[in-house]
Amino acid sequence: MGRITLEKVQKKFGETEVIPPLDLTIEDGEFVVFVGPSGCGKSTLLRLIAGLEDVSSGEIRIDGTPATDLPPAKRGLAMVFQSYALYPHMTVRKNIAFPMKMAGMDQAEQDRRIKKAADALNLTDYLDRRPGQLSGGQRQRVAIGRAIVREPAAFLFDEPLSNLDAALRVGMRLEISELHSRLETTMIYVTHDQVEAMTMADKIVVLRAGNIEQVGSPLELYREPRNVFVAGFIGSPKMNLMSGPAADAHGAHTIGIRPEHLDVVESGGTFSGKVGVSEHLGSDTFFHVHVDAMEEPMTVRAGGEVGLRHGDMIHLEPQADKIHRFDEKGLRIA
Ligand SMILES: Nc1ncnc2c1ncn2[C@@H]1O[C@H](COP(=O)(O)OP(=O)(O)O)[C@@H](O)[C@H]1O
Ligand SMILES: [Mg+2]
Repeated sequence: MGRITLEKVQKKFGETEVIPPLDLTIEDGEFVVFVGPSGCGKSTLLRLIAGLEDVSSGEIRIDGTPATDLPPAKRGLAMVFQSYALYPHMTVRKNIAFPMKMAGMDQAEQDRRIKKAADALNLTDYLDRRPGQLSGGQRQRVAIGRAIVREPAAFLFDEPLSNLDAALRVGMRLEISELHSRLETTMIYVTHDQVEAMTMADKIVVLRAGNIEQVGSPLELYREPRNVFVAGFIGSPKMNLMSGPAADAHGAHTIGIRPEHLDVVESGGTFSGKVGVSEHLGSDTFFHVHVDAMEEPMTVRAGGEVGLRHGDMIHLEPQADKIHRFDEKGLRIA
């Protein structure tokens, strides 16, 4: 089991309130991602759940039991960090066994759990190596293995892939998602990378300055961002956000149009401008278009083989039902 509830949980460091009182429920078996810009309080929130920081006020429950005053070791949660924190002089087997040894678990049970974790993480052939003889991805798997053997109610990950190169990150992302579907254990995963959030989460919690801006599935956040911040944060490339006459025409203070919802048309079109930088990805092309009277270039996502060059005129028509409208407070207009 691993249902975690936060009730009016608040955190201050001295006089500075980093997390204003917030409520959040994480269901048993859910993969929840906390995402937001650097410094918004993601790690602090995770550390409060883990018990590595004390709450200033509020209540944390794990499977209904008050956990606010429990020390980390008594919460039944396992944390995996960005720095793997492996013991360099110990083999993989000993690293994985470490928390069980500390807990004085009998050897047969330790062996059973090591085997299970090594199987789940493809580490069976590496158990007698030392961390220095492993790749970054394998080391991160050992760190996850050490969490698995504790059979926790939930796994807590704090930016576990930040130290890996881009290709390895994508691979590990898939591995962690697969691990989650196999173990069906609650996972809370912290990242500043909205692509990780979108690809891994059942439920995303978007944080800004300690506030929960929105909670929802990846597609809910993509389709109906509750405010301008979430609109700009979720989606890659970023949504085009415009104020002024373009927004007035829709009875809004700000409108948002995603790059993939702008169609390139032969002539006319709501927006016309000159092509600036083009990014050719093969499957897609991202055009940055300089439209008169707009400060920021608009980003357009087109197919892979659109024959437009720097300086060409381009005409754009937004898909009418895909225009997001926001009021002067930045809140979505239904
Ligand atoms: N131990 C601490 N003492 C004082 N301020 C802290 C401490 N830990 C974090 N903070 C502050 O709390 C805010 C949130 O930090 P953090 O949770 O690490 O953000 P994130 O993980 O989203 O980057 C930051 O402004 C940070 O400087
Ligand atoms: Mg952090």
